[in-house]
Amino acid sequence: MTRPSTSRSRTSRAAERDRAVFYCQDCGHESSRWNGFCPSPACGSQRPLVEAPSGSRAGAVYTGWRSAEAESLQELSTLDASNQPRITLPCEELNRVLGGGIVPGSVVLLAGEPGIGKSTLMLQIAQHMSARGEKVLYLSGEESPQQIKLRAQRLDFPGDQVFLLSESDVDLAVQHMEAMQPALAIVDSIQTLYSRDIPSGPGSVVQIREAGLRLMRWAKARHVPVLVAGHVTKDGNAAGPRVLEHMVDVVTYLEAQESGTLRTLHSVKNRFGSTNEVGVFEMTAQGLAEVPDPSHSLLAQRYDGVVGAALTPVMEGSRPLLIEIQALTSPSQLPVPRRVANGVDHNRLLMLSAVASRRASLELSGQDIIINVAGGLRINDPTVDLALILAMASSYHNRPLDPTMVAFGEVGLGGELRSVTQAQRRVLEARRLGMERCILPETTREEDLGVAGMRLQFVRTVRQAIRTALGDSRTEAD
Ligand code: TYD
Ligand code: MG
Repeated sequence: MTRPSTSRSRTSRAAERDRAVFYCQDCGHESSRWNGFCPSPACGSQRPLVEAPSGSRAGAVYTGWRSAEAESLQELSTLDASNQPRITLPCEELNRVLGGGIVPGSVVLLAGEPGIGKSTLMLQIAQHMSARGEKVLYLSGEESPQQIKLRAQRLDFPGDQVFLLSESDVDLAVQHMEAMQPALAIVDSIQTLYSRDIPSGPGSVVQIREAGLRLMRWAKARHVPVLVAGHVTKDGNAAGPRVLEHMVDVVTYLEAQESGTLRTLHSVKNRFGSTNEVGVFEMTAQGLAEVPDPSHSLLAQRYDGVVGAALTPVMEGSRPLLIEIQALTSPSQLPVPRRVANGVDHNRLLMLSAVASRRASLELSGQDIIINVAGGLRINDPTVDLALILAMASSYHNRPLDPTMVAFGEVGLGGELRSVTQAQRRVLEARRLGMERCILPETTREEDLGVAGMRLQFVRTVRQAIRTALGDSRTEAD
């Protein structure tokens, strides 16, 4: 009586293992049934689900993390987090983004638009490893060894200990890695890899996923870090790399700022450190150079007394940055005035100009408004709100703001200013760069903000802030 049921369950388990997996070509969502389009409400992809070969469920790779010690039970309190080994690089900006260094066995995705500097950054990381006397395997399906040599010459790097391999078959690439056992493997780029087991061409989501899974398995099994470059398109659509984001340990984006040679490296996922950290680099004739004091570099090209410019300290991850927000307002000739936001969210600009009009009598409704973040940085910190409104007020009244003044605070729809986190670090950064006056929300008053040489001016509303900053009866009293 029991025998047939056992054999039946064995058959069904085998069927379970061999069952195909279907997933979304845009977000990588997995389903066990083909149900047309991606069911994930957050995705809304218009492309149908595609089938991956059996046995390639993402879960399969994670077993590789099990190390010998972890197979027995361990009490959490007995573990020592500082034991996590890391390869610390001689580049503070990179270490910051990676959470202290590269963790052996981790897979790090370096995503970015073509031409942004991914290959340059990866070759520089190879150079750091080579300086430590460690072997690096550099797998390039995009460039010939001669092209990589030319780049190395620009970096003034002879290339000891870096072994190049032009291979696009992921299984053969993994065989080379296995034979060589490097201290770091670099894959440039994931889009050029393919597996012969899959019928679709290189660069397709199915191939990217499969190549990613195979690299993950190898990295985890051998405890060797793998650095993978992935291209994203101009509109930020990381269709290919997106599917990798779910499986890799660290996801970083290299981005160019809107003008100039600055590059920022953001981590958006990090299993070994905090996200939202930003590294700032500059593309020079000898590769990417660290920018250790970005506030200083950003303010270097600034002139005092310019109308429509306001300074504000923002937090980029754990680091304060002093940036300049520029605004230009001019009477519009169009039925619907233009609003252009470079470096800040467009909808935020719409909201702030409405708040300034309604709550602070700043008549912006008939004005074209252009906002720019000097240096081309893109800012997500909502505490820039106040500086943005002050820059618009300065431009509208054609009066410059005090060049030694900074302002920060998030603005609500009622024109009220909200309290801000890490106010002291912001004030200190402003003081470090020679600022003497700070306008900030009243609600941050309780904190111990006293900084020698800095006059703090607490305000409750946008209207009060404009009056404090522009210093006369420009706006009506509260
Ligand atoms: P690259 O690393 O090839 O970009 P990606 O791999 O992301 O496609 O870098 C491309 C650009 O960087 C290219 O336009 C040349 C420039 N560059 C420099 O300005 N200085 C340098 O030292 C190097 C190596 C490249
Ligand atoms: Mg490249």
